Amino acid sequence: MRPQVIAVAGKGGTGKTTLAALVIECLRDPGPVLAVDADPNCNLGEALGLKVERTIGQLRDEVLERIADLPPGVPKDQLLELGLHQCLVEDRGVDLLSMGHGEGPRCYCMVNHVLRRAIETLQGNYRYVVLDNEAGMEHLSRRTTQDVDVLLVVAEPTPVSLRAARRIKDIAESLGIRVGKKFLVLNRVRGELPPGLAVEEAALPLLGIIPYDPQVEELAARGRPLSGLPPDSPARRAVQGLLGKLGIGKEG
Ligand SMILES: Nc1ncnc2c1ncn2[C@@H]1O[C@H](COP(=O)(O)OP(=O)(O)OP(=O)(O)O)[C@@H](O)[C@H]1O
Ligand SMILES: [Mg+2]
Repeated sequence: MRPQVIAVAGKGGTGKTTLAALVIECLRDPGPVLAVDADPNCNLGEALGLKVERTIGQLRDEVLERIADLPPGVPKDQLLELGLHQCLVEDRGVDLLSMGHGEGPRCYCMVNHVLRRAIETLQGNYRYVVLDNEAGMEHLSRRTTQDVDVLLVVAEPTPVSLRAARRIKDIAESLGIRVGKKFLVLNRVRGELPPGLAVEEAALPLLGIIPYDPQVEELAARGRPLSGLPPDSPARRAVQGLLGKLGIGKEG
């Protein structure tokens, strides 16, 4: 089974992690969802209320440290595959994988090759894969992930943020990632969109808006997961609506 891959990108602080976590909350029942935190700051776990013990970055370093001491014949791919499963945090309808820090100065070719294959195989166990990216999309550029079906670029309703969204879309295109569809999502919208806001500056079709929702901010301030949002909260309802427009989450 090939999962539907939804990636969230955007400038720092626009609400990527919030959107990714709300998408996951909408899809985890029945799921299963593989949540991938591709931001080295790793806060998708917090937004989902899941505790990350080990990241892929740590695993990669540990395996490289040990490779020199391993007797010949110990299969390194098995070591990595086992480690990969130890990086997964499992919960109802969702498993979380945190990519962690990027690569240091060593040669990671072999480790990356094995990991990429193992992650691809792992993804086959899920119906949805939801990726929370860092602003620069390093992780996507390193291609530890397969193709993306839907790329959601998050922006705030300001000209500066819309131009940043356009740059992110351009980066995505220059990386040569195969993306099925790309959309703009405007987040933290208070009331109506500002009159005269040139949404076309983002050069992306607008999928929809997520209103400013004080309960989202309050949960974040208290370090609580977004599962604490009531089902009828404006942000959760908006994200459900976005998925509805995409026809995601209604299959079968
Ligand atoms: N619709 C919303 N209503 C109210 N607050 C929001 C909304 N969306 C996001 N926030 C708040 O804005 C802040 C930034 O959101 P978030 O962490 O999701 O952004 P980000 O793009 O992932 O940031 P970073 O670039 O640091 O990873 C958080 O405190 C979050 O609670
Ligand atoms: Mg984030």
